[in-house]
Amino acid sequence: MAGSVGQMLRLALITAVGAADLGADGDLLLPELGRRGIAGIPVGWGVDFETRAFDGAVIRSASDYIDAPRRFLEWCRETSSRMPLANPVDVLAWNSDKRYLRDLERAAVKVVPTLWVGPGESLTGVPWDRFVVKPVISAGARASATYGRSALPEARRHVDAITAGGVIAMVQPHLSSIDREGEVGIYVIGSEVSHAIRKAGVLRSGAPPAPDLSLGWHQQAVPSPVLEEHVRFARAVLEAVPGGPDRLLYARVDMARGEEGELLLLELECIEPRLFLEHAPARAGAVAGAFAAWLEGRVGGDAPREG
Ligand SMILES: Nc1ncnc2c1ncn2[C@@H]1O[C@H](COP(=O)(O)OP(=O)(O)O)[C@@H](O)[C@H]1O
Ligand SMILES: [Mg+2]
Repeated sequence: MAGSVGQMLRLALITAVGAADLGADGDLLLPELGRRGIAGIPVGWGVDFETRAFDGAVIRSASDYIDAPRRFLEWCRETSSRMPLANPVDVLAWNSDKRYLRDLERAAVKVVPTLWVGPGESLTGVPWDRFVVKPVISAGARASATYGRSALPEARRHVDAITAGGVIAMVQPHLSSIDREGEVGIYVIGSEVSHAIRKAGVLRSGAPPAPDLSLGWHQQAVPSPVLEEHVRFARAVLEAVPGGPDRLLYARVDMARGEEGELLLLELECIEPRLFLEHAPARAGAVAGAFAAWLEGRVGGDAPREG
């Protein structure tokens, strides 16, 4: 099999289509994988794996999946029938639509209050003076914007543009804590809390929704201490993921504070979290170690091929 070539296991690191770019994460991750006997090879999703042999695949920087979520998930299903794929494909599918927040809320996770608005549904009942509109399928703050009550007509047009694209819109209170202190993202990799980042808020009153992921690309991120409170919250979120936390190779749990100072879940990213290893370079070895353990646990013999 592929892994026997030069004794290196071959791990496909799945990127955006046509952009085999892992960003700063790749520069730190690839040598650490190499040290562990794994050739990490960036591959754009959509590639026909029949003609190329890999021992496994990990989704890394495929944020363009939001342009074609169905096609992406179809490709993931196909790929996971041929080789181990992380995260498990059912988790990828579940996590691709922010309605997963409803499942987590049912499991007693505190999430940012959210109204789900379908085509033509009214906004007049929105109870918040400042509120955010965004689509259920998104990354990098694409098609997201913040409004005051006086801007209801603009918000209406925004919601209509989202639903015309075939997805549901989300309306949330604009959390002022995000403007003041940003959101904290806790990385859990191979079941261990790895590191944390703090990301500055990106939505400004009067700024139109961005047609691309540029707000996210330019979002300021700094290392954050890993606080016990954050860890407890992140663990509780992951406990509530369908199938349980142990099947996840990686996840980032984004949280921000509500008006009472309580932690609320903003987003759970189990598809393509940028790891920001440039802010936690000392963690690159541990992350590569988790990827290696995952791959080695699945290659050869009769190891299960899923997840
Ligand atoms: N309710 C909110 N209040 C204030 N800012 C928000 C809110 N929701 C989203 N944002 C801002 O928009 C960004 C993107 O939203 P998020 O829910 O993380 O979706 P995604 O990262 O998938 O695009 C966040 O990082 C945050 O800066
Ligand atoms: Mg986000």
